[in-house]
Amino acid sequence: MKESKPVETIRWEDDQLILLDQTRLPHQVVFEAQRDIEHVWDSIKKLKVRGAPAIGVAAAYGLLYTVRDHVDTERDTFMDHLRRGADFLKSARPTAVNLAWALDRMIRHAESSDATDAPALYRSLFEEAVRIHEEDRALCRGIGEQGYPLLFPGCRVLTHCNAGGLATSEWGTALAPIYLAQERGLQPRVVACETRPLLQGARLTCWELQQAGVETTLVCDNMAASLMASSRIDLVITGCDRLAANGDAANKIGTLGLAVLANHFHVPFYIACPSSTIDPDTPDGAGIVIEERDPNEVHCVGDHRIAPEGIAAYNPAFDITPAALITGIITDQAILRPPYEEHIRSAFADPALPSR
Ligand code: MRU
Repeated sequence: MKESKPVETIRWEDDQLILLDQTRLPHQVVFEAQRDIEHVWDSIKKLKVRGAPAIGVAAAYGLLYTVRDHVDTERDTFMDHLRRGADFLKSARPTAVNLAWALDRMIRHAESSDATDAPALYRSLFEEAVRIHEEDRALCRGIGEQGYPLLFPGCRVLTHCNAGGLATSEWGTALAPIYLAQERGLQPRVVACETRPLLQGARLTCWELQQAGVETTLVCDNMAASLMASSRIDLVITGCDRLAANGDAANKIGTLGLAVLANHFHVPFYIACPSSTIDPDTPDGAGIVIEERDPNEVHCVGDHRIAPEGIAAYNPAFDITPAALITGIITDQAILRPPYEEHIRSAFADPALPSR
């Protein structure tokens, strides 16, 4: 897609999982080798690695830590360790389905593997983690190609949080069409919402788009309404953490507000969603568990406390955008349009989609 490669969020090197510590961006680019499964859990919980696809990929590799000291055991014992490790990693964050999806896929792979001993099973699991990583790259490219026709020269795209390369294995989901448009000379312009409380838009989206030379303007979250009211946004594209079977979409807190605004001001509102983020087992948004995080993240900006001591704060990390507010869902295969329930079902049944 682009000639220069984006910074790699996740890599496996010298038998270790290496993660880019996103909590230090944009000021420091620090890679951290993960010591053990507890370290991986902590990195997911603290958002050192974040974004739905990226936490799935990191967890698939992270699961290897739980069994690599048990390759001399019986297969049953090995499987017990594997299942316990998967349950533990799943408990780090509840909303993005990719985490459970990747771990369940690793377990299914082990259960159906014909490896006769634990060392062979370990090697086969490693290969499955690499496949999940590789497939995620392909999903990003697919979303880029599918979403690209929505863009036009100089178009102004508003996005929220970070659904770019940092959140995935390569070009991102919401940002993939933008990177492609930039490469093909359309010079798209991005408006990045800062995304309180943890500022993924200001810290991460602005950083990675700046590296790619995409014209980007940072705004506070509360400025989106006035931009849309004055016709300065052509379309909205956000990422997605879990897409329910009826098309309701969980994404970073604040996405719902943007969808309501976009509908009010007749601005097309798209979500970008790889097949690994579709959850056919959850009928609608009401069934999606929303992660609640430490109120201190709201009390503070970074390490600096801004609220008086003793004040209560509420900190849900995600919200649910009802399907009715979504103009289209950009998947790696097609842009899905309403009625979503039917179109998601048939897209999900497509044998060309990566196995779930
Ligand atoms: O809490 P985060 O930073 O993990 O939230 C990330 C988002 O909400 C993204 O939009 C979503 O995971 C899609 S990333 C391609």
